[in-house]
Amino acid sequence: HFALIPLQLVAGFIKSPLSQKRLTQDSVELYCEAIGNPIPEIQWWFEGNEPNETYAQLWDGARQDRVKINATYNLHSTSTIYIANLTGDDSGTYECRASNDPDRNHLSKSPKVKWIRSQANVFVIERPDVQTGFSDSTGKLILSCNLTDPAFAVEGHEWKHGDKILQTDTESSAFTSYIIEGKKEEHSGIYECIYKTSPEIKGEMNISVLPQVVAYKKSEHGNEGDTGVLTCKNPSFPPVSDWVWYRNDQESIVNGSGRYIIKSSGNKTELRILKLNIEEDTGDYHCSATNSFGKGEATVNLRVRSRLAALWPFLGIVAEVLVLVTIIFIYEKRRKPDEVLDGKVMPQTTRTRMSARETLTKQGPGECCSRGQSCS
Ligand SMILES: *[C@@H]1O[C@H](CO)[C@@H](O)[C@H](O)[C@H]1NC(C)=O
Ligand SMILES: *[C@@H]1O[C@H](CO)[C@@H](O)[C@H](O)[C@H]1NC(C)=O
Ligand SMILES: *[C@@H]1O[C@H](CO)[C@@H](O)[C@H](O)[C@H]1NC(C)=O
Ligand SMILES: *[C@@H]1O[C@H](CO)[C@@H](O)[C@H](O)[C@H]1NC(C)=O
Ligand SMILES: *[C@@H]1O[C@H](CO)[C@@H](O)[C@H](O)[C@H]1NC(C)=O
Ligand SMILES: *[C@@H]1O[C@H](CO)[C@@H](O)[C@H](O)[C@H]1NC(C)=O
Ligand SMILES: *[C@@H]1O[C@H](CO)[C@@H](O)[C@H](O)[C@H]1NC(C)=O
Repeated sequence: HFALIPLQLVAGFIKSPLSQKRLTQDSVELYCEAIGNPIPEIQWWFEGNEPNETYAQLWDGARQDRVKINATYNLHSTSTIYIANLTGDDSGTYECRASNDPDRNHLSKSPKVKWIRSQANVFVIERPDVQTGFSDSTGKLILSCNLTDPAFAVEGHEWKHGDKILQTDTESSAFTSYIIEGKKEEHSGIYECIYKTSPEIKGEMNISVLPQVVAYKKSEHGNEGDTGVLTCKNPSFPPVSDWVWYRNDQESIVNGSGRYIIKSSGNKTELRILKLNIEEDTGDYHCSATNSFGKGEATVNLRVRSRLAALWPFLGIVAEVLVLVTIIFIYEKRRKPDEVLDGKVMPQTTRTRMSARETLTKQGPGECCSRGQSCS
């Protein structure tokens, strides 16, 4: 008999948390990974910078729910601690502890093997103030940022609009600017100036305008009885909070009333008119958008054609095809008359061109077969 002896393996780290610098209100993530048999347990402990502080264990949901711990125990153990909205008090030493000692959490027994530990420091620095400025003059927009705290060493700047990098440099100045050629209405959005410092410092500015509504098509056509679809979009910032459709001198169109269906999603709105009617539905429709800045609108003209009108192009094509077929038929008839005629009523000109033999073969079997006799 062989006894299966389980291979006992003392816990060891394969990934340790890394020290990091962060600004207040940022978040930080520390990662730890350990192996062993059995799979080790991972805990997180913290010691603040005050001299009287001692290590205290961190739990998921600690510090007014700003601490989240995500652990997995599968082949080996991994644990991520995530701290949101950092404050100066979050500065300190974070310790990842791992142990697979069966007595590790026993209060009275002292464990044979102690917990193994791996530390990282988190420095939370007070977020400096970035003064942002924006001027709009003579067809130019000038965006500027001024980092008022001289304590940071600047190694360059970057300007961004969404994910798009607009400009970069490697200057060390506290002041940076970006110039946009054109009108404010065409360049609305969120812009960012980024200082290449450790940690990175950002300034944000919003170029806000009234909704710059555009109709997908200024005039739409629909056939009587079909569904008409009118669409408006707003590409500008801030996004639209409310869309309204209305007709000249009339109340706004209520979704679901009569033959109307309105679908609005973010920056786009769609008015559907079911079973179009020539008299009732032809005319101008206005889509009006409201954002936190004010209102903007666009007009779509709808024309409803009768069912018959829709048929005209089709009838035109049919007529065209008929004319073409007729022309081809006449042309073919003129060009190869001997293949079309059976020889009985052959015009004089054709008959003279045919050889005697040809005439015979054409006429002979034709007469013979028509009488139901053998043709061989
Ligand atoms: C540590 O000392 C500070 C003052 O220096 C005090 O405010 C804090 O309560 C003390 N913390 C503990 C855990 O004793
Ligand atoms: C926890 O970690 C697992 C594995 O890495 C991941 O799939 C999951 O999304 C994480 N959960 C949270 C809340 O971060
Ligand atoms: C972040 O913490 C500050 C106070 O430290 C608080 O005023 C703010 O509301 C918090 N922000 C978030 C997003 O929780
Ligand atoms: C940047 O801010 C500092 C401090 O407020 C001020 O002294 C300086 O003039 C500003 N620089 C520019 C270019 O506006
Ligand atoms: C810019 O707009 C965003 C989104 O609407 C908002 O969260 C942010 O606070 C605004 N920033 C400023 C500086 O107004
Ligand atoms: C209009 O009503 C339809 C259902 O009748 C609904 O799907 C749609 O979201 C509504 N639109 C708006 C703008 O409320
Ligand atoms: C609306 O448009 C703005 C500016 O282009 C964009 O930032 C935002 O993501 C859009 N929102 C939706 C819901 O499409």
